[in-house]
Amino acid sequence: MGSPFPAIFSLVIVFSVFLLAQSSTIGVDYISRLLEIQDRERAPPSVQVTAAVGVLGRLLPSHSSGFEFLIVSKEQCGGESCFIIRNHPSATTPGAPEILIAGVTGVEVLAGVHWYLKYWCGSHISWEKTGGVQLHSIPKLGFLPRVQDSGVLVQRPVPWNYYQNAVTSSYSFAWWDWRRWEKEIDWMALHGINLPLAFTGQEAIWRKVFQKFNISSSELDDFFGGPAFLAWSRMGNLHRWGGPLPQSWFDQQLSLQKKILSRMYELGMTPVLPAFSGNVPAALKSMFPSAKITRLGNWFSVKSDLRWSCTYLLDATDPLFIEIGKAFIEKQLDGIFIRQYIYLFDTFDENTPPIDDPDYISSLGAAIFKGMQSGDSDAVWLMQGWLFSYDPFWRPPQMKALLHSVPVGKLVVLDLFAEVKPLWITSEQFYGVPYIWCMLHNFAGNIEMYGVLDAVASGPVEARISENSTMAIFNHIFCILQLKVGVGMSMEGIEQNPVVYDLMSEMAFQHKTVDVQAWIDLYSTRRYGHSIPLIRDAWNILYHTIYNCTDGAYDKNRDVIVAFPDIDPSFMVLEEMCHHQDKLVPKGELLENEYLYEKPHLWYSTSDVIRALELFIMSGDKLSGSNTYRYDLVDLTRQALAKYANQLFLTIIEAYQLNDIHEVSYHSQKFLELVEDMDMLLACHEGFLLGPWLESAKQLARDAEQEKQFEWNARTQITMWFDNTEEEASLLRDYGNKYWSGLLQDYYGPRAAIYFKFLKESLQNGHSFRLKNWRHSQNRQFSLYLELNSFDLGLRSMANNGSSGGATWADQWDYNPDPVSVPDNNKKNTSNYKQKVGEGLGKTKAVASTGVKKVKEGTAVGFQWIKDKTTDVRLPLLFYGYRDHDSLIWYIVLHSSGITSPSLFLSDQSFLEKYGVAAAIASDGKGLLAATSDDRRWRYWKDEEDGNDGKMKMEMRRLFFTTDPVY
Ligand SMILES: *[C@@H]1O[C@H](CO)[C@@H](O)[C@H](O)[C@H]1NC(C)=O
Ligand SMILES: *[C@@H]1O[C@H](CO)[C@@H](O)[C@H](O)[C@H]1NC(C)=O
Ligand SMILES: *[C@@H]1O[C@H](CO)[C@@H](O)[C@H](O)[C@H]1NC(C)=O
Ligand SMILES: *[C@@H]1O[C@H](CO)[C@@H](O)[C@H](O)[C@H]1NC(C)=O
Repeated sequence: MGSPFPAIFSLVIVFSVFLLAQSSTIGVDYISRLLEIQDRERAPPSVQVTAAVGVLGRLLPSHSSGFEFLIVSKEQCGGESCFIIRNHPSATTPGAPEILIAGVTGVEVLAGVHWYLKYWCGSHISWEKTGGVQLHSIPKLGFLPRVQDSGVLVQRPVPWNYYQNAVTSSYSFAWWDWRRWEKEIDWMALHGINLPLAFTGQEAIWRKVFQKFNISSSELDDFFGGPAFLAWSRMGNLHRWGGPLPQSWFDQQLSLQKKILSRMYELGMTPVLPAFSGNVPAALKSMFPSAKITRLGNWFSVKSDLRWSCTYLLDATDPLFIEIGKAFIEKQLDGIFIRQYIYLFDTFDENTPPIDDPDYISSLGAAIFKGMQSGDSDAVWLMQGWLFSYDPFWRPPQMKALLHSVPVGKLVVLDLFAEVKPLWITSEQFYGVPYIWCMLHNFAGNIEMYGVLDAVASGPVEARISENSTMAIFNHIFCILQLKVGVGMSMEGIEQNPVVYDLMSEMAFQHKTVDVQAWIDLYSTRRYGHSIPLIRDAWNILYHTIYNCTDGAYDKNRDVIVAFPDIDPSFMVLEEMCHHQDKLVPKGELLENEYLYEKPHLWYSTSDVIRALELFIMSGDKLSGSNTYRYDLVDLTRQALAKYANQLFLTIIEAYQLNDIHEVSYHSQKFLELVEDMDMLLACHEGFLLGPWLESAKQLARDAEQEKQFEWNARTQITMWFDNTEEEASLLRDYGNKYWSGLLQDYYGPRAAIYFKFLKESLQNGHSFRLKNWRHSQNRQFSLYLELNSFDLGLRSMANNGSSGGATWADQWDYNPDPVSVPDNNKKNTSNYKQKVGEGLGKTKAVASTGVKKVKEGTAVGFQWIKDKTTDVRLPLLFYGYRDHDSLIWYIVLHSSGITSPSLFLSDQSFLEKYGVAAAIASDGKGLLAATSDDRRWRYWKDEEDGNDGKMKMEMRRLFFTTDPVY
């Protein structure tokens, strides 16, 4: 059987030939030595094979016997890490393995499996939340496609494939149990990742270390952040926020870390461990009065509240620094059977050193390294290069001083945002220091379809072959690549844009720039398991629009719905809605100017994207059974509607500025309906639900108190993030925003409604927009959204004792008068304001004529079209959602009179098993059939309230944890 994908097929052969001709590297420097040590210290081959077999068994149990795995040496790979895919010698014997996959480690073996599944079986692997895997295209056992007789050998162009960002542990992994971790480690191995961060549970180690220095438990309670904020307490950005950590947390996380490290070891990965960066508890200062401990400045706390801001930093030149650094590394390695040599630490990440003297910086760097080395003499320092692009403090002399403070090869920099702002180009290859080319791609786990596929497909290759590259150091004398370092993925949050990660992970094995055009065609086929021309066309559009962002902006999601502008609408200059997209942090630095707000990011033609959506919907009949398709359909519709909402918001503001209360009412109503629609839409896929995030947090709690605390952490991180006062929102408000069903309905929607209420009030009563009152209400809304009674960080005192008693937020803002009256003394700089208004209106009018036209002709038409289509087209979409924290709510929207058999949903065994319930539309088109896993019998339901728009909407509630269904 030949390969169904000849293009890629021959590409692989070309690589193989090219690579085999290359000579092996000569281990002369630290990195080569490190690689040697890594090879030596790896788990025995049999352990790695067993671990790889385990991964295959979880991924594809039906085909476990079709593959055989083998660990081979680098010599068998031409001196580098590689995988080799061969037809199994006994493949002709019935029941014998058909494909033999060899690799230098378990990771290469599994990367080989993935490669084979992709390019011989046309399948696809993504995170469960992004639609999961598409493995239906794999032929049955006995029919696995053969590779060419000589086999296929694919080498790594660079030895390391790095994974994670220091904050991914909080944005994505905060609440994971071992089951979820195991899946992720499987994912890592299949994607060829061999250098992952392993940061879990380090607080338990810190506690042991600081207790050795006589810091008490209660003093440590003040030091560690809460479970959802550990990434930032580790970096010294904050302390105590969301804490204290209960004893059970330390135990649980430490035992989790042991499992994580063991599994990584078994697969042949090299986990990257944390190291001491000088961040110490306040109490250490009184314990060691003569130590050089400074208090850092405020990091995004509204009023520099000392309860959680301004942490303490021990100077790296102090002897105590080395003592603690050593103790930490020793304690970490204590009881871990693997010897590790790579440590990540970022002393200066978002914390600037006190003096910019290069000599001082150099001594700091040297001291940090010494601390690390005294705990582990072979230590290599891995550093996120984020500070160099983000903090203007780091000019070339400072940067050079830090990079050169450590022997070359002992420090490896992560070029963290290389797909957009590659530092290797502007810093003369990090002044000769080795670096890893990383794709950052995502901020704070925000949900947005976005990517720069061309840069991903070519960037790592260009960096590697560039002159004097330190991503792969070229030896001019021997004309060989002598030192190779790595590529990586450093996203802040995962489980989004699977296409980007599918391509980027492949770059760890691609030697030449990938032809994205060909790649994307194949991608759409692999992702859904069908080759459908309409869908291919749709992906082509997406490639040229959404996935070709070349404006160099940070893709922080600042869409109006999820990052509602917090400014006075009178002064909003519509045309110039701020170009602050290239700032790292929203608003923090913009506070002086209250009239600016961050413009939502838009880098493509929305009408093109609506066309792609149209093509998606047209393919619905064929692909509706595909979970990957359903995820993409929901995501793409969400994307289109989100950008439409941004336009709608501008229309509202225009109308406000023109004093047109009718238009304000009309359009704000539309906006709120849109938010409702989107909440419903998002409830159609498991990947877009708030419930699992909250529920997974509560699952880790050991008692009711912890449950409250963890839920508070989970809710706060994705909304207000950090502290607020009665009248000021958190400076990090909405930084971690999410398009999740539940949040739109219960948080973003009501917030927008409050704003619109103030708009209308202002026009009705002829007074200016009551900015303070709005902020007050907004913050109060947040407090109520938290809906917690006793977990108290001082925030509760701000909340009114409003009993929410089951009423939604919308009820409260709608029927109650504004509960607080704040005197409107917002009158400073009046003349300045007036002038701005004048300019603003002028510009507004100019934009209005074209803008309104655009909205009407473009997006609005498109939007109407989406609405019509999604009700007309026979999409057997099951709208389900688990939107609230204590109940599972089902939405079944009748989109299809064509469904006559309930087997459609019943066939989804895993769904029924997982949620204990499934539903389908009855064949009369009016009733609903529902079944539970208890007896698997369908019961007929009819929605009495069905009505006005011909769309049956039905809601079933079922308490999530009861065995007694309420219906
Ligand atoms: C901690 O306290 C013990 C008992 O008071 C004392 O002997 C020891 O020296 C102290 N250690 C440090 C590092 O201060
Ligand atoms: C590469 O290094 C050589 C020797 O140091 C230098 O002359 C040359 O300008 C460098 N090239 C680039 C592109 O930096
Ligand atoms: C991406 O955008 C750039 C800049 O507009 C353009 O030159 C390039 O051709 C585009 N690439 C694709 C694949 O559309
Ligand atoms: C809020 O409720 C608490 C407990 O029920 C009560 O002690 C307190 O006085 C109330 N505060 C206000 C402002 O009503």
